[in-house]
Amino acid sequence: MRYSRIIGTGSALPEKVVTNHDLEKILDTSDTWIRERTGICERRIAADDQTTCDLAEEACRQVFERTGIDPQSIDLVVVGTTTPDLIFPSTACLLQHRLGMTECGAFDVNAACSGFIYALSVADKFIRTGSIKRALVVGAETLTRMVDWSDRGTAVLFADGAGVVILEASDEPGILSTHIHANGGHADLLCADVGVSKGFKPGEPNAGVKVFMTGNEVFKVAVRTLGRIVDETLEANNMEKSDIDWLIPHQANLRIIQATAKKLNMPMERVIVTVHKHGNTSSASVPLALDEAVTSGQVKRGENLLLEAFGGGFTWGSALIKY
Ligand code: UT7
Repeated sequence: MRYSRIIGTGSALPEKVVTNHDLEKILDTSDTWIRERTGICERRIAADDQTTCDLAEEACRQVFERTGIDPQSIDLVVVGTTTPDLIFPSTACLLQHRLGMTECGAFDVNAACSGFIYALSVADKFIRTGSIKRALVVGAETLTRMVDWSDRGTAVLFADGAGVVILEASDEPGILSTHIHANGGHADLLCADVGVSKGFKPGEPNAGVKVFMTGNEVFKVAVRTLGRIVDETLEANNMEKSDIDWLIPHQANLRIIQATAKKLNMPMERVIVTVHKHGNTSSASVPLALDEAVTSGQVKRGENLLLEAFGGGFTWGSALIKY
């Protein structure tokens, strides 16, 4: 049987750190509220001239450096992002060119915070079917470009970053299964409701480009839905909760992460948490957490990892991986 395996990870974060105390100075909020309700202590914000593709490029250069893999050997580039540099060409095409690759397929996937899981799922299928041998799978965002800094309900949450994996065809198990879902019926609870076709709002700040979220409603659906996808993923692989070694969740809110860990009967020591220092980096959050898990030596080869994410759309997804 042909599988895809993760053969390297990389990540990039902007230099600028914004703490909760920094936000207290511009918003009616407090460090205590943000920590208690979200688990976030600080986040990274891209420089004015730093784009999603810049962060993605830095993460990719790192994974090529670490693995010694030649970018020319990559057959497919898939970038999960909601904040592309341009409307087109896609961030994946810009990235492909910057990394000196020629003519491999390259495209973006917009599934909001589930973008990396969706991108991983697509690349895994290309490898499993024998169409390609190696894929570069990226989650990269400059989500703070869409933040309304006067809205305390969202401004304290979101942040910027990029993470990447290289997937390679293998006879040995790697990605065991991926599961992706969406329900467009809740679009109004979490969205940025302007665009090329629908139009922008010229009189408004940032032409009306901003994240809108009914946080407490999203919270309830996220907890319920992530609980369901844990069951679906275990069932598809005939596995028990105790077979999972590590949970690597989307980093939106520590309380959501804790609820999913509880569902898995998993102690928090087996859960990779980066939300306190990264905030919610949307598509970048899962690959950033994965890279940290790998580079810190916590996750070892042969262990079973459950990756999951939930985001605007709504979209949600999971990947079960024998690392
Ligand atoms: O990544 C994509 C998916 N997104 C998520 O999963 C996010 C899901 N939602 C959440 O993480 C949480 O709902 C939030 C962190 C966004 C909000 O936490 P919450 O416990 O659900 O609070 P809430 O929205 O119910 O608001 C409770 C109170 C309200 O005040 P009143 O009406 O009780 O007086 C808010 O106005 O907290 C107030 N509030 C704040 N207070 C201080 C909201 N934001 C803030 C803030 N600082 N930053």
